[in-house]
Amino acid sequence: MSAAINLPALTLPITTRRLIIREYATSDTAAVQENVRDTAYWEHHATEPPTPEKISALVLWAVQEQAIKPRLNYYLAATRKDSGVVIGEAVLRITDPLQRQGEFGFGVARKLWKQGFATEMGAALLQAAFSQLKLHRVFAQCAPENKASIRVMQKLGLAREGMLRDVGQARGKWWSSVIYSIIEQEYAKIAKLQG
Ligand SMILES: CC(C)(COP(=O)(O)OP(=O)(O)OC[C@H]1O[C@@H](n2cnc3c(N)ncnc32)[C@H](O)[C@@H]1OP(=O)(O)O)[C@@H](O)C(=O)NCCC(=O)NCCS
Repeated sequence: MSAAINLPALTLPITTRRLIIREYATSDTAAVQENVRDTAYWEHHATEPPTPEKISALVLWAVQEQAIKPRLNYYLAATRKDSGVVIGEAVLRITDPLQRQGEFGFGVARKLWKQGFATEMGAALLQAAFSQLKLHRVFAQCAPENKASIRVMQKLGLAREGMLRDVGQARGKWWSSVIYSIIEQEYAKIAKLQG
C-alpha cells in the first residue's frame, strides 16, 4: 500500500451527547455477548447466529486491529457516558484508502432500540470519517428488510444507491443488500446546517 500510508488515524474516544465511543478491550467480551444475544439482533443479518466463541474472536480481532498501521478497521464500543455500560457497536472501515472510501455500521442492544442511539453513533462516525479521516464517500449497507437500519441511514442524510440482489446465502435463504451513501460535499452541507 503506498498513498494509504498517509492515512490519518482516528482520535479516540469520540464523545457524543450520551455516549463515549471507544476502543474495545478483551474485558468487554461478556458485555458484547449480552448485547447480541437476542435473536432479534441478528434477524436481518446474512449470517449464522454468532456463537460465544465467534464473539470472543471478534473482540480479540478488534483489539488486535488497534495496533495495525495504517489502520483500516475501527470496530468500536459504544458506551453510556453516565454508566460506562457497553450498549452497542460502532464500526468504521476504510475500504479503499487511495480513493478515500469507507463503510460504517452500528448495532444497539435490543432493550435500547428506538431511543436514537444508532443515529447518535452514526452521526459521530460520519463526522469522524469526513473531518478526521478525510474520506470522500462513506456507505452503509443492510438487508432490505432491516427497516430500522434504513431509517437511521436516511436520518443521517445518506442517499440510496441501489440493491445488490442475492449477494449471499445464510440460514437457508438468499440475502440481498441495500447500499446507502453520502459524499463529502453532501456531508459538508448537512454539517453546516446543523451548525
Ligand atoms: C438498526 C438499529 C441499529 C437501530 O438502532 P436504534 O438505536 O433503535 O436506532 P434509532 O433509535 O437511532 O433510529 C431508529 C429509527 O428506525 C425506526 N424504526 C425502528 N423499527 C422500525 C421498523 N420496523 N420499521 C420502520 N422504522 C423503524 C425508528 O422509529 C427510528 O426512526 P424515527 O427516529 O424516525 O422514529 C438496531 O435496530 C439494531 O441494533 N439492530 C440490530 C443490528 C443491525 O441490524 N444493525 C444495522 C446493520 S448495519
